[in-house]
Amino acid sequence: SAPRTFRIAAIPADGVGTEVVAAGRAVLDALAAGSSGRFAFDWTDFPWGCGYYEKTGRMMDEDGLEVLQDFDALYFGAVGWPSVPDHVSLWGLRLRICQNFDQWANVRPVHFHPGITSPLRKADDTPLDWVVVRENSEGEYAGLGGRNLAGRGPGNEVALQTSLFTEKGCERIMRFAFDLARERDRKKVSSVTKSNAQQHGMVLWDEVFERVAADYPDVETESVLVDAMSATFVLHPEDLSVVVASNLNADILSDLGSALAGSLGLAASANLNPDHRFPSMFEPVHGSAPDIAGRGLANPIGAIGSAALMLDHFGLEEEATRVRKALDATTGSGLLTPDVGGTATTDQVVAAVLDNL
Ligand code: NAI
Ligand code: MG
Repeated sequence: SAPRTFRIAAIPADGVGTEVVAAGRAVLDALAAGSSGRFAFDWTDFPWGCGYYEKTGRMMDEDGLEVLQDFDALYFGAVGWPSVPDHVSLWGLRLRICQNFDQWANVRPVHFHPGITSPLRKADDTPLDWVVVRENSEGEYAGLGGRNLAGRGPGNEVALQTSLFTEKGCERIMRFAFDLARERDRKKVSSVTKSNAQQHGMVLWDEVFERVAADYPDVETESVLVDAMSATFVLHPEDLSVVVASNLNADILSDLGSALAGSLGLAASANLNPDHRFPSMFEPVHGSAPDIAGRGLANPIGAIGSAALMLDHFGLEEEATRVRKALDATTGSGLLTPDVGGTATTDQVVAAVLDNL
């Protein structure tokens, strides 16, 4: 029968984004080549990013969203370069895609790989694995607010950065988190809140969490303040399974999680439009890492793990598991990039992952 062909838009964008997207593509192409014609990936490259902005004054083409709409998935690197203000580059490309494609669920697994020493002194060989589920469409990153309201004059400028919490937005991300928890060994959802201080939005968040939890009596729950949750990440990570949090809180906590696992370069992420009205986007959690870009030192594991999440999304779960096992086998053999204490290059890690596949 004809192979199932998945059309993927590659948007490596800036810095190490180009290096790690190439790494993930090599892994996916090797899988397709070995699939005996069962499936294939059809790639289209987009040159968008800060370099494109310097030439054109735009982070992406004006009709870029229409062009992307027809793809089965987007594979993204990282956006940002010192030549362009970060809020311009982020809103002009990554957030523009996430918001317009209503990718409201951002899934960020935290996985401790064998062979990588955690900065947690007490971490032993206990497998640690939890998932941060990030509300990805509203909250603190709703883009609402303004500056210099009412023309207060020099020295008196004020700015409002307003959070938006809707009942529908809270409910859909929480149901998503509970459904995910049901698929895991530990059926538990921890809600991250700050309702003691943020008495409007976060109280709504808490109320919706309680209501949704009632529909999942088989799933254990807890509601934890974000400051306390940051301590739990360090002190009792073994208590975590699914952690659902607002846009900003989850952004911070997921970086903490990946640092605990050893490096930002390890963390994978999926920006999902669970309604399937728009393509979903898969990208490593890290940024463009200008300090190491272009030197072949980038850790490709986060990007390859993101490619595995894309395979899950395509229904290729067996292949996704193979990729994750190949990553564990690679780190377990001690072949590591400098960010996790090794001397290997990006290419050497990719070659080892391909061998282990
Ligand atoms: P970053 O994630 O780029 O770098 C933070 C630290 O982690 C650096 O020391 C870097 O060398 C290291 N690192 C990151 N990825 C790595 C990898 N794959 N292998 C090894 N080490 C790695 O965050 P930073 O420095 O705050 O931001 C740099 C630029 O990236 C900024 O322009 C920022 O706006 C942008 N950014 C973009 C994101 C995205 O596109 N999703 C996310 C975060 C930042
Ligand atoms: Mg972040």
